[in-house]
Amino acid sequence: MTKTALVTGGNKGIGFEIAKNLLINGYNVVIGARDVTRGNKAVDDLSKYGDVALQILDVSNVSKINEVANKISHNYPELALLVNNAGIPGDMQKSAWEFTVKELQETYTTDFLGAYELSRSLLPTIEKNQGTIFSMTIPIEPNNFFHPFAYLSAKAPLNIMTKTWGLEFKEQNKPVEIFALMPGGVTTDLNNHMDAPGFKTAEEAGRLVVDLITDNTDRSGKVVNFDGTVAEYV
Ligand SMILES: NC(=O)c1ccc[n+]([C@@H]2O[C@H](COP(=O)([O-])OP(=O)(O)OC[C@H]3O[C@@H](n4cnc5c(N)ncnc54)[C@H](OP(=O)(O)O)[C@@H]3O)[C@@H](O)[C@H]2O)c1
Repeated sequence: MTKTALVTGGNKGIGFEIAKNLLINGYNVVIGARDVTRGNKAVDDLSKYGDVALQILDVSNVSKINEVANKISHNYPELALLVNNAGIPGDMQKSAWEFTVKELQETYTTDFLGAYELSRSLLPTIEKNQGTIFSMTIPIEPNNFFHPFAYLSAKAPLNIMTKTWGLEFKEQNKPVEIFALMPGGVTTDLNNHMDAPGFKTAEEAGRLVVDLITDNTDRSGKVVNFDGTVAEYV
């Protein structure tokens, strides 16, 4: 039976490549995009790989997410995979105390509350289909090389959600897998196409994500590194 996946922020970067590789692996894919022109362009580019559709979805518009999710569940009752990929880093140059509350709210809403509300709203459908909730994340332990305050503090609750939901799914025998990946540095718009030793291309990251999603290993409740090992600093 064909499986359907929803990939948020699927119009470019890693999300586009995840969508592409899911299509190559036989999934039908719905890409969530906040902009209709960018979304349609991505659907055009992806359509040579398989059955792909666009759902307009701004993950920062949290009061609308439940309505959009209900529409998705209605149109795609076979939905078995949610990829929480849409994300923003906030200003990565500012010192940790320089952010306004509004700036933090924007980052927290996009990176966590949107993913939380979408996952919560789609959970009954994904549970019915014994599916997977997957999120793109980062290590949230600050170190000398990487300590962007808004970004770290926005992704921290996403990691906690992954671990807590995984634990409670097991406790309550819910047949849903939830896991998250810290891919390491990936050269994309998000970091102004930074390229440094060890950085991956979006193509490589997309392939890696889909390899992990489709390798039949249960990673529920885990935040993992790009090689599938459980991450220490999450
Ligand atoms: N690049 C890295 O080094 C790296 C490392 C670890 C984790 N990640 C995570 O991987 C994910 C993808 O990052 P990327 O590097 O591919 O970044 P990117 O190229 O900037 O792409 C981000 C995607 O998210 C979308 N997006 C942003 N805000 C949105 C909103 N409110 N509603 C819907 N879509 C929204 C963007 O849409 P628009 O085109 O409309 O802006 C775009 O499609 C993010 O969650 C990021 O935190 C990235």
